[in-house]
Amino acid sequence: MKTVLIKTHEAWLEMLMAGFMSRTESKQILFDFSDILFRHFTWIEHELIEIGESYDYNRDNIPIKVSRLSDMLKAITARLLEIDLQLVGTPDRDLAARMSTDIAYMVDVLHGMNDEVVTAFNMERRLPNTELTEEATDALTLFLFDESYKEYELIMIYNYLKAHSDDAFLNRIFQILIDESFFHLKQFGEMMAKMGILAVPRVVMRELYEVEDVTAFLKAGIEEEIVAKEECKKLSDAVGRDSQSLAKFFDFINHQENYHIALMREALVHYEKAENG
Ligand SMILES: [Fe+2]
Ligand SMILES: [Fe+2]
Repeated sequence: MKTVLIKTHEAWLEMLMAGFMSRTESKQILFDFSDILFRHFTWIEHELIEIGESYDYNRDNIPIKVSRLSDMLKAITARLLEIDLQLVGTPDRDLAARMSTDIAYMVDVLHGMNDEVVTAFNMERRLPNTELTEEATDALTLFLFDESYKEYELIMIYNYLKAHSDDAFLNRIFQILIDESFFHLKQFGEMMAKMGILAVPRVVMRELYEVEDVTAFLKAGIEEEIVAKEECKKLSDAVGRDSQSLAKFFDFINHQENYHIALMREALVHYEKAENG
């Protein structure tokens, strides 16, 4: 079952990347499928925890540099069929059946999907209808690489914490932070694809999500959110002269981080209360 977890993790990211690559109506279908695969991932993880099997979020590197979408879709299909074969070992037969019927449908839809020329790796570093200076382009490039990884990292950490907690108060907060990070990751990934610099975030190190001291983790996390806000502000200033809409977008992202900080502070108070009494 550990293999199913790893392969589902890889298929989820591959499907998400394919969504970024597409520039047609297939995009939304690929995003929806990637959301389904993320849910499969969390359900398999729950199974592993139930049966007391150790696992981690390691995975292989995922090659995505294709020039045609159909090549990506073929790779995803092969991986989905591998997962399907591996499902025999899943003790929860209802879950296995659910995943299997989802996979059969997704494979069928991918098979019928129109091919597209992929420009997500052309390295042109230009956004449609936006003229950025060299300096602003560099700042944006750096930001997108750093922050897309960061959002993926946060999804994995909060997902891990949520999987190991049955505290409804905290899990509500963790789920909001997961959803929010997904939104940010999708926004940044879209921009990377448009700029021709799409890349899969690197693997998250085990020490980062196997959090031993949640209180310390939350405190550090709040500091990090404050840094993320500053990064957004800097970027908004850097691109502000060239593009009003881009500046507004990064201000919007910056303001969203305020609520993340507030939620993390709430979680912190809750933890400290639980620890003291
Ligand atoms: Fe964020
Ligand atoms: Fe955040």
